[in-house]
Amino acid sequence: MSLTSPLPSASLSPRRRYAIVGVGSRHELYQDGIEKTHADSAELVALCDLNPGRIELARRRSVRNGAPVPSGYLANDFQRMLREQRPDVVIVTTSDSTHHEFLIGAMEAGCDVVTEKPMTTDAEKCRQILDVRRRTGRDCRVTFNYRYSPPRSQVKELLMSGEIGDVLSVDFHWLLNTHHGADYFRRWHAQKKNSGGLFVHKSTHHFDLVNWWLGASPVAVLASGKREFYTPEMARRMGLSGPHERCLTCPERDRCGFHLDLAASPGLKSLYLDNEVHDGYLRDRCVFRSEIDIEDTINALVTYDSGATLSYSLNTFNAWEGYTIAFNGTKGRIEHSLVESVYVNGTETIQGGVAENGVRIRVIPLRGAGYDLEPWRAEGDHGGGDRLMLDDIFRRDPLPDKYRRAADERAGAGSILVGVAANRSLQTGAKVLISDLVPDLPRPDFAPMPDRRTAVPMPRRGA
Ligand SMILES: NC(=O)c1ccc[n+]([C@@H]2O[C@H](COP(=O)([O-])OP(=O)(O)OC[C@H]3O[C@@H](n4cnc5c(N)ncnc54)[C@H](O)[C@@H]3O)[C@@H](O)[C@H]2O)c1
Repeated sequence: MSLTSPLPSASLSPRRRYAIVGVGSRHELYQDGIEKTHADSAELVALCDLNPGRIELARRRSVRNGAPVPSGYLANDFQRMLREQRPDVVIVTTSDSTHHEFLIGAMEAGCDVVTEKPMTTDAEKCRQILDVRRRTGRDCRVTFNYRYSPPRSQVKELLMSGEIGDVLSVDFHWLLNTHHGADYFRRWHAQKKNSGGLFVHKSTHHFDLVNWWLGASPVAVLASGKREFYTPEMARRMGLSGPHERCLTCPERDRCGFHLDLAASPGLKSLYLDNEVHDGYLRDRCVFRSEIDIEDTINALVTYDSGATLSYSLNTFNAWEGYTIAFNGTKGRIEHSLVESVYVNGTETIQGGVAENGVRIRVIPLRGAGYDLEPWRAEGDHGGGDRLMLDDIFRRDPLPDKYRRAADERAGAGSILVGVAANRSLQTGAKVLISDLVPDLPRPDFAPMPDRRTAVPMPRRGA
């Protein structure tokens, strides 16, 4: 199949030239960001993937976007793509354990890079990325979209303002419901060699948020974890005869509450089902199959260089989706919770019983009455966070950002290494030092936090 004809090719222009490698579901955000919202400053010149069907689908997306059609390259031709198309920036949206190949190859070739989270999946690849970034001097951006969600920026504002003084400990609990949570057990995420497990693949978002919120670097991690829900035994407890290969051919599809009908969803069908023939990538594998090797329930205790401690959990089979977090400071406590209403199906109510729109931010001083804050909002996906992040990536003149939400390889490393340390802790049962994984990890440029030496007023009696 020709990946460069018969569609017209992209023309040269002074705009920044982008290539995207990995044209699955997540790449669509970036393709549309370039071709629709930021076409004045960016152009998409090339697409690269293992799967020729998905490349062709992405090229047709350019036609729909009314944009020049990028040239397509198979993954083996990545270097040829760089030589022929001379992108300024390569965006990496492949599966997690392959990011390093393209980040390193692109930076060595003189390109800047933008990568989806997690930056990579183990300590060795992380060290390689940091070394090549340092040696080449190229920009490496890690797209932590969660930072851009307005309520999370609002919490950052509160912490920066010193409202609760110095944060001494954090309690953070993230829940995935059985629609979204199950999805990590259907495909490549379900093997640690591909994703690093949920401590890396998913928790990288959460560990990054804490690093960024606190303006602190992680020092040590002690973890526990298990898989007890997405198992063959659970399939039997739910009345099935056991796990099967995949939903499409499942003999018990009508009785299984986890059935995913790829054929019924035009998006899933065109992206995955129609392209299985090229690479055998099955998007709807049974969530109860035995060869899954990632945990579905994880816990970690993390210490930070600020002295703060984090108590963290992730659960993937919950009744509602979202999180609760509390920051315990020298002057009070912030409680914040958020229900991801996008994953709440078929009911007018928001599961979890929290405030309007599922967002709650409450400040409770050590003495005196607590108060709720009106949550910040913005228009668009992920509470408006995606639009803000794309602006930050693609605008020639990004707006000033007092929260420093744009993240680079230092933040990318700081978040995944908590998960990598947690994985090692799961194996050994011992606490793992981040410095044993990557010595001299460079510290990100965090936004200034309150000076920890500031005196703390004695709480008023009886108030
Ligand atoms: N920030 C977020 O909220 C968010 C959300 C979803 C996914 N992601 C991340 O985006 C990335 C892509 O996830 P997705 O859901 O689109 O996955 P996907 O499976 O839908 O797409 C991955 C694409 O990469 C291609 N690919 C895999 N290995 C390759 C290789 N060696 N060379 C070239 N192409 C290769 C696959 O063929 C596929 O087209 C992952 O790193 C994931 O963690 C981030």
